[in-house]
This record gives sequence, structure tokens and C-alpha cells, in this order.
Amino acid sequence: MRPAAAELVDSREILPGQWLQAYHAPDLAVGSRAGQFVHVRTGDFSGMVLRRPFSLNTVDAATGTVTIHFRVFGRGTEWFTRLRPGDQIDLFGPLGRPFEVDPRSRHLLLVAGGLGIAGVRMLADEAIRAGRQVTLLFGAASAREVYPSTLLPDEVEYVVATDDGSLGHRGFVTALVPDYEAWADQAFACGPAPMLAALARLAAGRRGRLGVAKLGRKRGGGRTDPTGSPAARRKAFLQVSMEQNMGCAVGACLGCVVMTMSGTPQRVCREGPVFAAEEIAWEGGW
Ligand code: FES
Repeated sequence: MRPAAAELVDSREILPGQWLQAYHAPDLAVGSRAGQFVHVRTGDFSGMVLRRPFSLNTVDAATGTVTIHFRVFGRGTEWFTRLRPGDQIDLFGPLGRPFEVDPRSRHLLLVAGGLGIAGVRMLADEAIRAGRQVTLLFGAASAREVYPSTLLPDEVEYVVATDDGSLGHRGFVTALVPDYEAWADQAFACGPAPMLAALARLAAGRRGRLGVAKLGRKRGGGRTDPTGSPAARRKAFLQVSMEQNMGCAVGACLGCVVMTMSGTPQRVCREGPVFAAEEIAWEGGW
């Protein structure tokens, strides 16, 4: 991880109160992976000294462009919307641990709730580049908050659920998952904690019968991998990217801790934000 100067290339409101910004940040674009995030500081140090964490939404190493997708929530994020092409900001990253795709996985199921799309969007690009098939299940409150399909690669199968039924399936996005879980080799999710907890319960009830578990184990595949390790994530049917409030984003303040099944607290900014769903102690309030 490193600080990187970034120049705004494009900025637009893609949904009410939600913005997509592209920055030229070639140092960051090389080596960043899906699931990681950046910590961003405003350029004028105008009293808003706390950085803001944003998922890396997309990364194009060839052009040195990275995008972030965020919702305006307070003065700090509002400041970003007033930036103009050519303005510079300071990005710090890439931070956190990425999604891990098992090399045998051909079918990836992505599940996103609302702004959680920003956490899994880049994984769609990586998977398609690797020749995998991707289905994205997306949930929102209503049609006006549905992520535009034009911002997705053509190869992605895109299925929408809205709480009020104004577009796609009526109800929660989690209700769509049973239709796809037998197809999927692995699933990756980002969104509100109750959505992630519901998905984790679904996956736990089918442990051993889904995804990579049915592809057959490699040598050594039966051993227990340490919590938070890449191997533990790679073996999991469901990986989740946790959306947690952050302070320092470098592991110092302990403001982002989640409890794991082993009883060991884990920092979302350092050991996460991506975890194997079975590692998280979901019964602690989700
Ligand atoms: S945000 Fe400070 S330890 Fe994670």
C-alpha cells in the first residue's frame, strides 16, 4: 500500500445521490485486486482530515484509471462531488485483502445490495477476463436505485430484485439465490450486514453440497486453514465483503472490528474487508 496522487478524469451522478468518479492513478491501478479499497483524503485539508474508505469499483491497469462509486453522506463525500476534471486528490491503497477465486471455479455468483455493488463490481471484470461466467444478483429498494446495466460488462447476466417490485423480482435479493446456488461454484457478496447474514445462513445450511465443495478437493484441501487466510477464502463457497465504519483504515484504532467464530476479533480494514462467510460470528446482532 502506498499514497498515490490521483487526477480526476470523469465525475457523474449515476443514481440519485450516488456518484461514479474515475481517477488517473497509474501507481494504484497496477496490482490492485477486487475486494480491496482505498482511503481517500480531500485535497485542500479543509478541516475534513478523516479520510474516506471507498471500494475499488473498477481498475484499468492499461490506462492507469481507477473508479470509485459512493453515496453522498455528509460534508466529506459532498466535497468530492464538487471536484472537476484535472483536480487532484490523495488516494492511499490498495488496502485490505481481496476476494479469492478458486482456480477450478467457472461460474461465479455475485450478490450485491445497494451500494454494495461497488464492492463486487471489479470482480466481474476480473472473472470475465479469466473466461469465467458471472451472474450478478442486485437488490435495491426501488427501480430508481437500480444500478444501470450499461455500467456492467455485456457478458454479465444481471438479475434485479426490488423491495417494492417496481423492477424485477419483488422482494429481497436473497430470495433469488436458491435459483442460482446449484449453478455457482462460488459466491461473493457485498451489502448491508443483514443481507450478508442471511446469505451466510443459506450457505451454512448447504455446506458440503455447494460450489467448490463439490468440485473435489486438491491435496491438502481437507485441512483447516487459519482464519483470514487466502486459502480459507478460496475454499469457501461464500465470501463476503464487510461494510464497516472505519477510522484509521490501517489497523490502529480497532474501530472496525468484527467477531469471528474462532472468538478472535478481526479488523475489517486489515484482515478484511473480505472474509469467508463461515468465519464470521453472525449471531452477534445481525
Ligand atoms: S479502521 Fe482503524 S483498525 Fe480498522
